[in-house]
Amino acid sequence: MIPMSFNLSGKLVLAPMAGFTDSVFRTICRRFGAGMVFTDLISAKAITYKNKKTLEMMEFREEERPIGIQLYGSDPDVMAEAAIIVAEKFHPNVIDLNFGCPVKKVVSKNEGSALLKDLPLMNKIASRVVNAVDIPVSAKIRSGWDKESEDPVSVVNMLESCGIAFVTIHPRTRAQEYRGLSNWDWIRQVKEKAHIPVIGNGDVLSPQDAVRMFQQTGCDAVMVGRGALGNPWIFKNMGLFQQGSFTEENLTQPDAGEKLSLAMTHLKQCIEKYGECSGIRQMRKHLVYYTHNLPKARELRKHLFEAKTIKDLEDVFHEYK
Ligand SMILES: Cc1cc2nc3c(=O)[nH]c(=O)nc-3n(C[C@H](O)[C@H](O)[C@H](O)COP(=O)(O)O)c2cc1C
Repeated sequence: MIPMSFNLSGKLVLAPMAGFTDSVFRTICRRFGAGMVFTDLISAKAITYKNKKTLEMMEFREEERPIGIQLYGSDPDVMAEAAIIVAEKFHPNVIDLNFGCPVKKVVSKNEGSALLKDLPLMNKIASRVVNAVDIPVSAKIRSGWDKESEDPVSVVNMLESCGIAFVTIHPRTRAQEYRGLSNWDWIRQVKEKAHIPVIGNGDVLSPQDAVRMFQQTGCDAVMVGRGALGNPWIFKNMGLFQQGSFTEENLTQPDAGEKLSLAMTHLKQCIEKYGECSGIRQMRKHLVYYTHNLPKARELRKHLFEAKTIKDLEDVFHEYK
C-alpha cells in the first residue's frame, strides 16, 4: 500500500532522464511544483560494490521529496541487496525498478526493457525487491519488447501480484526506442484493469498534453520527461489544473528574460555542486533546452558553449538580454 502522503492523484511528475535529472534539476522541478521526482537509472551491481560515484548519484535534498531512486539490473539477489542498501542509506519515498531502458549496453545484459521478454525473471526481481524492503517499490515499463509481444496489461497484472505499489507506463516498444508516437491507448487499457495507481508517460510536451492524457486514459498521474527540459514551468501550469483554474489565460508563458534568468540560477547551482569547470560542462545540455525557440538561439548557444567561466557566461547572458 502507498502511504497517504504519497497521493499521486492528478499530479505531474518528473521522469527519470539519465544525464539530466540530477539533484540540481530535480530540486528546480520540485520548486516549480513537480508532484514527484526520480533519479536517473542506477546500476544495482554498482550499488552493491559501493561504488563511490554511484552512491553520490543517489544523494538528494529533503526538499526533493517525494523522490524515487530507480534501479536496474537482472539478478534478483543483487537487485534485492541493492534495494536494502538504498533503503537503509538514503530512505527514498520509493524504489523504482527500470523495466524500460532500450539502450543496447543495458538490454544486452538482460536488463531494462529486455526483462519484458522474460516475465518470469521480471516477476522474481519484483518479488525479491518488494520483500527485501519496507518502503514502496514501483516499476517503470515500456508497452512491450516489440509489436508482436506487446501486452502491458498482463505485465502490470503480474507486477501487481508481486506487490508493486504503482506502475509507470511509457507506451512505446523497445523496438521503437524513441521513434513514432507513444500509444496512449495502452495507458487507458492498463488503467482500466489495474488495481494500483498508474502513471502515464510519453510525448507530453505541454500542460495541455498532460490534461489530454489524464482525460483520454484516466491515469492517476502524468510523467513528463523531455517536455520539462528547459521548461519546469510545465509543473507550475499543471498546478492550475489541480486547483481547477486551468485556462489558457492563466498559463505562465515565460519570456526570454525569465528563461535565461532560470538558466543562470540553474548554472550557479550546478557550479556550487560540481565546481566551475564540471558544472559548466554539465550545464551545456540544459542550455540547449533553455534557449530553445529563443530569437537567434543558434548564435546564443555558440557563445554559451565557448564560455569557460561563470563570468564569461554572465557576459553572454547580459549581452543577449
Ligand atoms: C535523455 C533521456 C534519458 C532517459 N533516462 C531514463 C532513465 O534513466 N530511466 C528511465 O526509466 N527512463 C529514462 N528515459 C525515458 C524517460 O523517462 C521517458 O520514459 C521517455 O523520455 C518518454 O517520456 P517523454 O516523451 O515525456 O520524454 C530517458 C529519456 C531520455 C530522453
